[in-house]
Amino acid sequence: MIEEREHWSSSLGFVLAAAGSAIGLGAIWKFPYIAGQNGGGAFLLIYLVFVAIIGMPVMLCEITLGRRTQQNPVGAFRMLSPAKSHLANFIGFSMLFTAVALLCFHEYGWAIVMLIVGGLIIRYGWTSAGIISIVAGFVILSYYSVVGGWTLGYIIKSFQGELNYVTEAAAANCFNSFKDNMGWVIPLHIGFMLICSLIIAKGVKNGIEKWSKILMPMLFVLLVILILRGLTLPGAVKGVSFFLSPKFSDLSTEGILTAMGLAFFTLSLGMGAMVTYGSYISREQNVFMSTLSIILLDTVIATLAGLAIFPAVFAMGFKEAAGPGLVFNILPAVFNSIPGQFGWLWAGIFFILLSIAAITSGISLLEMLVAFLSDELKWKRNKAVWISFTAVTTLGLLSAVSVSSWGRIEWLHQALVKAFHIERGSFFDMMDNFSSNWLLPLSGLAVSIFVGWIWGSRKAVEEIRHGSHNFADVHLISLLAGLKDDASHNNARYHVLTLASLWGIFIRFVAPVAITIAFLHEVGWLKNS
Ligand code: TRP
Repeated sequence: MIEEREHWSSSLGFVLAAAGSAIGLGAIWKFPYIAGQNGGGAFLLIYLVFVAIIGMPVMLCEITLGRRTQQNPVGAFRMLSPAKSHLANFIGFSMLFTAVALLCFHEYGWAIVMLIVGGLIIRYGWTSAGIISIVAGFVILSYYSVVGGWTLGYIIKSFQGELNYVTEAAAANCFNSFKDNMGWVIPLHIGFMLICSLIIAKGVKNGIEKWSKILMPMLFVLLVILILRGLTLPGAVKGVSFFLSPKFSDLSTEGILTAMGLAFFTLSLGMGAMVTYGSYISREQNVFMSTLSIILLDTVIATLAGLAIFPAVFAMGFKEAAGPGLVFNILPAVFNSIPGQFGWLWAGIFFILLSIAAITSGISLLEMLVAFLSDELKWKRNKAVWISFTAVTTLGLLSAVSVSSWGRIEWLHQALVKAFHIERGSFFDMMDNFSSNWLLPLSGLAVSIFVGWIWGSRKAVEEIRHGSHNFADVHLISLLAGLKDDASHNNARYHVLTLASLWGIFIRFVAPVAITIAFLHEVGWLKNS
């Protein structure tokens, strides 16, 4: 028996759930430290540009794909793919050819990868983009959950009063020994996955939507409390001006491209998460407005997170470019340096906030797997949830034990080095690198090309028009000129710039080109000096 597809009970429910997916460790953990390293305000500005010109069009693509097909990412691509695609065949055969070439150079590991992916593309055409996105979601969740576990652990630590150091060195010490302490990290990782799984098991409406409606407002309130505390510290103004006044001299090409990768990550794009969530909306919903709200919420929260963090960091005289440890190392020290007895409370509030953000994002990654298993294999929801839980948790264990060194899984290290000839960071870093820098842009590229050229922007716009109250057809130029109701403009027979046509251009040209450039740069094929 096939269970009927659930739907969100309201637009608000969908927007909050999708915003919950977007707002996560990306916005609150990665964004502030990357902004700190790349010139603060200047980085914020560039990031906003990418969100507007790539993030928004691609998100609209994903949500539209989901709503049109009412399917998981694999089903969505399959349903709209043409029987035969020359482009897909061309890519597939090029990969097979590359595989043969790699064999000649004795690069067996890469050759096998190329062989598998090339074969997949030839066999399944565009549907393979959906398959890649499911794999990416699986990999991301496995290490995301490890970091999610850390955030849970730091809540406990704050309330136990163990984060009571005030210097950067002591902070780093505490964090380093924490992430190496398997007695903490493994149960916390499992605990994080368990929380996500329990929520998902309840279903779309009673699980994801209900909890998003509780957790998201909580997150917002906690953030506002932290900002008020930060801004009222003496010296905070320096932090605000660092974050809000652009200093372009600190911004490198590197930083510009990082901004784009980050925009993808924090908006949960390029991985079918939004396709999945979009598949639970009904056709009466306004996808334009929903997309806009999700983007606004994510951007506002990322900006607010910066405003909660930098004033406190500057007021207490810590370094703003502290790197990934900014949140785990520095913040507790910053909070503890605040005069008064409540350092542990501020730290506790912050880590509760971070955990909430991580949980609502983890849910979306897990739901993608669950939707895939229950749509494609017709599994019952519960079975799909618990099998995904087991698989993800197991892969995550490898990341958990290898964050700082390969010591515990040296055999795997040797095998990987032998097969791929690369020595780059820990297993944790490899997973992050592999999924964020490779799979994510590639599948983002596939989504925009697919919607723009294969399914076709015209059919996509037809779908968007449903429920969007002529929004797609607003004449942008007339609107700007204040001539919106002018008869000559409304009945214009000539082509005018509408939101829909603007979107089509972005999705067919701007997004694919920009993603390609960033991708080539990320993987090191476009070296700039
Ligand atoms: N957007 C989330 C964050 O900022 C992470 C995330 C959730 C994600 N779902 C995703 C990233 C899907 C890429 C794709 O932390």
